[in-house]
Amino acid sequence: MNRKKLTTFIACCLASLGMQAENINISTPRTSLVVDATNGQDLKFVYYGTRLSAADLQTAIDVESHSYSAYPAYGYNCAAEPCLAVRHADGDMTLQLQVTGTETRQEANATVNVVKMKDKKMPFFVNVCYRTYNDVDVIETWTEISHAEKKTVTLFRYDSGCLPIRRGNVWVSHLYGSWANEGRVSEEPLKPGMLVIENKDGIRNSHTSHGEVMFSLDGKGRENDGDVIGAAICYTGNYKLRVNTHDDESHLFFAGINEEASEYHLKRGETFTTPVLALTFSREGMSGVSRNFHRWGRNYQLAHGNKVRDILLNSWEGVYFDINEEGMDQMMADIASMGGELFVMDDGWFGEKYPRLTDNSSLGDWKVDPNKLPNGIGGLLDDAKKHGIKFGIWLEPEMTNNPSELYEQHPDWVIKAPGRDLLYGRGGTQLVLDMSNPKVQDFVYDVIDGMMTKYPAIHYIKWDSNMNFANHGSQYLSADDQSHMLIEYHRGLVKTLKRIRAKYPDLVIQNCASGGGRANWGYMPYFDEFWVSDNTDALQRIYMQWGTSYFFPAQTMASHISAAPNHQTQRVVPLKYRIDVAMSGRLGMEIQPKNMTADEKELCRKAINEYKQIRPVVQLGNIYRLLSPYDNLGVASMMYIDDAKDKAVFYWWKTETFVNQHLPRVKMAGLDPTKRYRVRELNRIDKTPLKFEGKSFSGEYLMANGLEIPYTHNLDWGKQIDYSSRVLYLEAE
Ligand code: DGJ
Repeated sequence: MNRKKLTTFIACCLASLGMQAENINISTPRTSLVVDATNGQDLKFVYYGTRLSAADLQTAIDVESHSYSAYPAYGYNCAAEPCLAVRHADGDMTLQLQVTGTETRQEANATVNVVKMKDKKMPFFVNVCYRTYNDVDVIETWTEISHAEKKTVTLFRYDSGCLPIRRGNVWVSHLYGSWANEGRVSEEPLKPGMLVIENKDGIRNSHTSHGEVMFSLDGKGRENDGDVIGAAICYTGNYKLRVNTHDDESHLFFAGINEEASEYHLKRGETFTTPVLALTFSREGMSGVSRNFHRWGRNYQLAHGNKVRDILLNSWEGVYFDINEEGMDQMMADIASMGGELFVMDDGWFGEKYPRLTDNSSLGDWKVDPNKLPNGIGGLLDDAKKHGIKFGIWLEPEMTNNPSELYEQHPDWVIKAPGRDLLYGRGGTQLVLDMSNPKVQDFVYDVIDGMMTKYPAIHYIKWDSNMNFANHGSQYLSADDQSHMLIEYHRGLVKTLKRIRAKYPDLVIQNCASGGGRANWGYMPYFDEFWVSDNTDALQRIYMQWGTSYFFPAQTMASHISAAPNHQTQRVVPLKYRIDVAMSGRLGMEIQPKNMTADEKELCRKAINEYKQIRPVVQLGNIYRLLSPYDNLGVASMMYIDDAKDKAVFYWWKTETFVNQHLPRVKMAGLDPTKRYRVRELNRIDKTPLKFEGKSFSGEYLMANGLEIPYTHNLDWGKQIDYSSRVLYLEAE
């Protein structure tokens, strides 16, 4: 079979049945998904897994069961869990979808297969779409739902897709968490019943659960071997993932927009397009699935996905709301002196009539507070230029407060049920702007456009969102369409983000939502990165960043060196360890440098300089997680390796500290066994070099044996630290 041709249509004449069977092989370089799109029949799932050869494809078509619907609809044969449930204009609640044809179209580097279906009785249509790329092992699937019935049809459920997963010893790994504790890993065997992973926050869809899962098909997931399916619902709003296990040979996995409180009235001629469900499969364990998602993300789903990120200082934990020109200048001077490239002024810089002194006012009034910044943003940009660094600024564009000038002028712009009381969030005064309202969309666009037009030198925006939908109600949508609010909000948000990106393609934008509340691939075409968590404690970050790395690459994970004691946990962690953890993501600082000693600044200067050397490997390389902090073995370890397998960065962090500790020796993974790698320790603080410093080892040795890492640092007695950690740079000779 021609490898370049991603999709192969195989038509088999089933003479005995007298119908034309069309099995569609939707393939990526290393995977195949086969569906049976026989005309006049329901669309059937046949196979998902490793890429099939032409011969195996035919065998699979012959022997695999064609019994699971690839997009089940409610009403006809309705004992099974559906993807789609509707009420037609005449009250009929049944759908009996039948394939009417297939289409293929080429896009840049991608092929889209569309299976067209129609209800047997009504003019109700569903297109099931699959996109594959030439160079990544991810299949994107979504549906387009429309009708030509006389009146509106109500949609009660509208999943993006589903997948049968053969029962056996299948484990699910997914992430949960909340403010300051995001991205926690949960792993469990799939059991009979319904597993539901969902979000209902409205705004921050990765606080609570995450919209991504992995299914390890042969027992508890292992990092570097075993068959694993990965799935990610790429959506900015509330989602729901379901795994239904009943008296059947397969677990049935469904994913889509969370339909709760969101029945949708679909007009004749309107198309409801569901968000993309991204699927991947790897025979190289959970890290293999992560690498597939990361590569797909970088190439197709992430703003500036193939560029490395700047090293920055963000002002929040350094000064909180205490912004002033002199202080900003000092922070810029400090980060520039340590080799940083960007300074970001966080919350607290705005508000004229209502100055933003704390978190209870002024959102929406995006004018500088003249008392804090007499020379305005222009003055700060001049300072940044003087220090030779770039400048970024914090905004929370979807929000307002009462009090604010914005709310005084537009009380009808906030989320609130008509005729009901306001319900406030952060600071006791925060409100969400109603992004379903086109005037609000224009306002939000103008906030960015106005600022960028006036100050084109602004390089970076931190886009924050710190409130959920506390109440349900749009003052813009009609009474009949109040159940569209959760969906229309996100349509309005995405429309606005697309406008911003069309005009400002080079702007760097961080996605922040009370920390890591918006880590979902649905956001990432418009954002460069996200703030993993408001919790900057290095030890807890290992656990959070570990989980987040299941689905997101290092350059999306903003990871900052902060103060000790840590502001969230009060834990005192040595600076070396804080650096070594932050260096495993997109390195930055979140600290008041003026409170650091000269030695501390020097260590950071050295680390920033070393990070610049390893940055392409970390941010654009391939992840291999080695030893999980969740296994409680006292140490966690992972590495990144470049595509050519010439350069690698190895991380080793102790997760607890005892005297005479017996820690496991960590075997590396992903290296070229035939190459020899010279080892150099980064961020070294020990008096003497490690035994293996400057020595070279074969990839085979490093993967079969690993290196013996001392569990303490060799320092003078008074300088001893707990929480030892190591970063090693490996270069092929
Ligand atoms: C929440 C964010 O997560 C923080 O980093 C900071 O920007 C604050 N908001 C500012 O109010």
